Amino acid sequence: MKVLRLVSDVREFRIASATASLGFVPTMGALHEGHASLIERAVRDHDLAVVSIFVNPTQFGPHEDFAAYPRDESADIAACERLGAAMVFAPAALEMYPPGDATRVQPGAIAERLEGAARPGHFTGVATILTKLFSIVRPDAAYFGQKDFQQLRVVQTMSRDLRLGVRVVGCPIVRDPDGLAMSSRNRYLSTVDRRAALALSRGLFRARELWEGGAREPDPLRNAVVRYTDGTGVSLEYVSAADPLTLEELVRPAERAVVSLAARVGKTRLIDNVLLGIRLEEIA
Ligand code: PAJ
Repeated sequence: MKVLRLVSDVREFRIASATASLGFVPTMGALHEGHASLIERAVRDHDLAVVSIFVNPTQFGPHEDFAAYPRDESADIAACERLGAAMVFAPAALEMYPPGDATRVQPGAIAERLEGAARPGHFTGVATILTKLFSIVRPDAAYFGQKDFQQLRVVQTMSRDLRLGVRVVGCPIVRDPDGLAMSSRNRYLSTVDRRAALALSRGLFRARELWEGGAREPDPLRNAVVRYTDGTGVSLEYVSAADPLTLEELVRPAERAVVSLAARVGKTRLIDNVLLGIRLEEIA
């Protein structure tokens, strides 16, 4: 497995493998089984799988955890090798944002609600770095987790709108056995916080049960999450029941929905969601 740090080396790698189909998994490192599931899928679906490891400064707000974001590059590189990646691209910040860098990719309305409202500028940073990475790596397909469901939709929309020619594929949320969605940020959780955080997936699973029992009104779905997290030490930032393609908030019964949330548990911000009435493979 190659580990490349320079844009010019990745361009050469891609020219040398021009006829190979290439699956790409962009990450910020601190890899866990959720990331591994995307890499395995890319390895399975393509001649070559490429992973990027880059903690992208432009997608963090001024008071967010950019400096403290977990970094463990040697373990990440070993994991990519074990999973069968052909190449890891791990650039320095100046390689992606050279002096004078000023261009930003501005996603549309789909990026303005939920995470976009809670984290102004976040999706501009995500769209900008992915436009750069897609143009450097030139993948046939890129793999994203349902864990960051709005990100998946923002990137699918961007790839379509900008005619990037990259198929943006969603992969299911990998959870710990007790239901907690895996996240690089889970390593910040104390034992007490981690136990409290279980209320999030439990609330979402309860919403799914209600859906399976025939509930189609959005309010009971949102309320299930609110009730499960009440008095648990989890502080909900938002709970949403939205259209899974546009992410517009539902105001009446619907035949498909994504129920999503963001919450603070101690100092850690967590997100999670469940998809109802539509399969992930139908989201493109
Ligand atoms: P990061 O948080 O490292 O996540 C990289 C990919 O792993 C994302 O597509 C995310 O949805 C997926 N992922 C994370 N946890 C997962 C889980 N439990 N199950 C399945 N997939 C999971 O998302 C980013 O990095 C960045 O925004 C990035 C796209 C790399 C742009 O900087």
